[in-house]
Parts: sequence; C-alpha cells; structure tokens
Amino acid sequence: MTDYPVNMSVKPHVQAFFDEATNTITYIIKDPASNACAIVDSVMDIDYAAGRITFDHADELIRQVEAQGLELEWIIETHVHADHLSAAPYIQGKLGGKIGVGSKITVVQDVFGKVFNEGTEFQRDGSQFDALFEDGDTYMVGEMQCFAMYTPGHTPACMVHVMGDAAFVGDTLFMPDGGSARCDFPGGSAEELYDSIMKVLALPDETRLFMCHDYGPNGRDIAWETTVAEEKEHNIHVGRGKTREDFIKFRTERDAQLAMPRLIIPSLQVNMRAGEVPKDRDGNPMLKVPVNTL
Ligand SMILES: [Fe+2]
Repeated sequence: MTDYPVNMSVKPHVQAFFDEATNTITYIIKDPASNACAIVDSVMDIDYAAGRITFDHADELIRQVEAQGLELEWIIETHVHADHLSAAPYIQGKLGGKIGVGSKITVVQDVFGKVFNEGTEFQRDGSQFDALFEDGDTYMVGEMQCFAMYTPGHTPACMVHVMGDAAFVGDTLFMPDGGSARCDFPGGSAEELYDSIMKVLALPDETRLFMCHDYGPNGRDIAWETTVAEEKEHNIHVGRGKTREDFIKFRTERDAQLAMPRLIIPSLQVNMRAGEVPKDRDGNPMLKVPVNTL
C-alpha cells in the first residue's frame, strides 16, 4: 500500500485524445461531482521542416471542454516532453486554468538553458508556470482531491498525477507490452526510473493507469489504459520476475541504440518555457538548432 492520499471511490471521467503525429495521448479528466476538469499533456502541432505551428489538436480539446460545459481548472504537464510541443498557454488563453509541472523543472531549465545558450532573460526558476509541484503535493479539481508523485528517471522533473482512482503516468511506464520510457536524456537515470516505477506500482492494484505515449508494438492497435495489477503482472521491463539489476542493464543497453526523437530540438525550447515559443531580439518567434551538442 501507499502513503499517498488515494481515494479509490472517486472515479473521474477520463477522455483520451490520441495525436497521431507524435503518438501522444492527451487527457481531459472530469471531476464526477462537478463540472471541473483538468487537461494532462496537451499537444501543439508543428511542421518542423516548414517552421509552422498550428493548433488542430488543442482546438479539439477546447471544443470538447466548451461543448460539455466544463470548467478547466488545471493544465498539467507530467514533464518537459522531448517529442512533442505543449499547447498549455494556447489552451489557457482560451479556457483559463493553471499550468502546473514538477518543481524540478528548474534542473531541466538549467541543463537546457546551457544547451540552447539562452541569455539571462530566460528564467531558470520555473516562473513560466503557475504551479510547481513537490512530491506528495495535493490540489483540487472541483471536489476531487488529486496529488502529484515525484517520479524522476526519464527526466529529472517527471511527476505522476493521481486523480481519484486514475493515475496519469507520463513517461514512466508504457503499456505492459511497451515496457518503459528511455532514460538517456540529460538528467535521466535508469536506477531512478526503476525506483519511480515501483512507486507507481505501489498504488492500489485497481488503480487505472493512463499512458502518455503508445506506439502499438507488434502491430497491435493503439492503447493507453491499463491497471497497476496488469503492469505488475505483465510489463515486459519491470513485471513479475524482473529485477532492478535486469532493468538497469536492459534499459541502459537499449537506450544507447535509440535515435534522438524527431522533435526534441523544438520541443525542449518550447516546453521548458511552459509551452511558449521563444522570441528573438526583435520579438519574433524563433527556434534554434545547436549543432553537435545533443
Ligand atoms: Fe517524455
């Protein structure tokens, strides 16, 4: 069992929106006792070759929130994603709500502030976000108590968010046949990821787990929902019979062979600013490409 304030009797209504371009799943989570909702891990569309940003995915979320008469209270980022851009500020501009991320965002900002040679105007204190969560911090979505669980390993700022009987695992776990997320970005650690996954799997067995990504391994249809019990039994990287040592060895060897995500360069620059596109000296939106640095 867990020391966290889990309330399995609260069962939020969870709607999933799959983004085909980045294999990301965004969620609208509705408090069963009110019209309050939260959005977890939104996506801003980018045609990187053309330098063009659009908002089809975010507009669909906004349409849904409005059509269902929901009140958006939180826009949560489970971490600084390296494979898609967040639409958090765009959604906030249309619907309100507070943008929240893990407090260790400051570590990510520090590392990538250097990589992208950001000037002193780039604040590395997380002040671009409305809320910085520490391990175990609680917050409300309507009448539903939620909490953030610190789960580093994939990145130093990863948090899993638990809302009633549902947990949004970000890039800690994938579906049982997908295993786990990579740990080789700066600040990542296979050791830490294993320990974080064990924290998630210490939640009650019936907890619904919602993935941030799915790639449909072995040709199966895209899926995003499982349970703690299923992961404990069947996860190919950490499930029954796998040791911490097995995991660390496998994860480290596997990560050494992975290519960088296609959108890592624009994603980091935008997501470490809570989803704002950086601007050049004249105030125009502009992205950089550091050469031979990542
Ligand atoms: Fe990620």
